[in-house]
Amino acid sequence: MQQKFSDLKKTFDAALADLKDGVDLEEIKNKFLGRKGYLATLMKEMADLADDERKAIGRLANETKMAMEEGFARAEAARKTNQILEGEWLDVSEPVFPADEHGHLHPVTRVQEELEDLFTSMGFMIADGPELESDFFNFTALNIPPTHPARDMQDTLYIKNHPDQVMRTQTSPVQVRAMRKYGAPLRLVVPGRCFRNESTDARHEHTFYQLEGLVVDKGINFAHMKASLEKVAKHLFGEEAEMRLRPKFYPFVEPGVRGEVTCFLCHGKGCRVCKNSGWLEVLGAGLVHPNVLREGGVDPNEYQGFAFGFGLSRLAMLKYNIDDARLMQGGDVRFLQQF
Ligand code: PHE
Repeated sequence: MQQKFSDLKKTFDAALADLKDGVDLEEIKNKFLGRKGYLATLMKEMADLADDERKAIGRLANETKMAMEEGFARAEAARKTNQILEGEWLDVSEPVFPADEHGHLHPVTRVQEELEDLFTSMGFMIADGPELESDFFNFTALNIPPTHPARDMQDTLYIKNHPDQVMRTQTSPVQVRAMRKYGAPLRLVVPGRCFRNESTDARHEHTFYQLEGLVVDKGINFAHMKASLEKVAKHLFGEEAEMRLRPKFYPFVEPGVRGEVTCFLCHGKGCRVCKNSGWLEVLGAGLVHPNVLREGGVDPNEYQGFAFGFGLSRLAMLKYNIDDARLMQGGDVRFLQQF
């Protein structure tokens, strides 16, 4: 009898020891510990034993039973842990990015931050405006009435079923927004994304960045504007950088200028990037039109101002010798990794 119990325990332990994944634990439990299992059958045999023998074997039977139940509980717990571990399976052989490969700022972001530093050092605040803009702020408030031909200067992306909404074509709408919000005097720059319905080429993208600037104060004149813009050119491109201002019409300034710097690629000789002119246009600027000041709630008889809009993407191209505007938003890491 004693031998039978210890054999049973051994077979049971062996069964648990080489449990295969697919084997049902319940099945083993039934086979050994169930009502008609091996243990129960063996215990029934005890009925035929003499009284004192039964006592001794009875104790052994109980011990065996407890040991088997314990063993089973342990096997069950182990299987549960395995299942959890399998759920949290981590492939340590999976390739990871090297720890020193961090990614870095986009060339446009770099130029943007450089300019933000420069302008905050000159007392400008940095503001923001919506990319989905109302037709009113993008055009009308900037002295461009609805049917004015100047609207055609900027190929606009209109929003279907929302005729009063546009993807802003410029950061200039923030001029009026800012004057309404902060009043005069005012000095601020607004970096941001703009959109135009362009057929794209080496110099044009449908999505690009500008940096708008606005200064409103008493006695502001053209010289303030020219000096500020030259300061920016030299800050970005060095003391020897040249900038020229030539007249250009923008409805929201009077007089208006375009600002150009020497072409980075041909250094003034003329090439595909600068359309053989030797110069690249990087900004529009001018003295704020009285109508725009009025829209902003500022009295033009008391205050004057100048405004400018840098093509941030264009500046980044100049600074980093990038010869195709389409690369900027292309998302090609081989391009981005060069900076
Ligand atoms: N918003 C103009 C453009 O996108 C640039 C500009 C800004 C011109 C401010 C004058 C004053 O072309």
